[in-house]
Amino acid sequence: MATALCPGSFDPVTNGHLDIIERTARHFDLVIVAVIRNPQKSQSLFTLEERQELLGEVTAHLDNVRIKFFKGLLVDFARDHGAAAIVKGLRAISDFDYELQMAQMNQRLSGIDTFFISTSPQHSFLSSSLVREVARFGGDVSSMVPPVVAKRLAECYESTKGAT
Ligand code: PNS
Repeated sequence: MATALCPGSFDPVTNGHLDIIERTARHFDLVIVAVIRNPQKSQSLFTLEERQELLGEVTAHLDNVRIKFFKGLLVDFARDHGAAAIVKGLRAISDFDYELQMAQMNQRLSGIDTFFISTSPQHSFLSSSLVREVARFGGDVSSMVPPVVAKRLAECYESTKGAT
């Protein structure tokens, strides 16, 4: 059984992430969406449990997708789960340098290959951080994230309005 990992912070999951997860699920028997527990990023908007819940909801139509947390090295998690590959989306050339570096490091550490999927053009400008920023200032993100995520973002920023 071929297992692939789709790793990331998913704070929150976007339509771009979902596109990559759905396309990966067509090529592998099992896809583990690996949510990092210890991101370098200073402030997370959603807790790990909220991110897991949202990912679970938006991938509920995919039978072969599981959501798990990991901490430490991705390749250790990959080995523990018998993953054959790491799958990442490439949005633009600006992603390439860092993604290539990580892919080569992961390959050197473990022998596990990284497969890149080109992001669908309609998602190529999308990132979780930009979505958070637009939502924070009341912009419309409904075409960028699944409806359940848009709703949670609106609730989240509504509840913090006036707090900053
Ligand atoms: O969504 P992100 O924040 O771009 O995801 C980055 C992530 C989690 C995929 C990357 O930071 C990662 O793999 N971290 C795990 C730590 C690790 O293995 N570092 C060495 C990578 S070469």
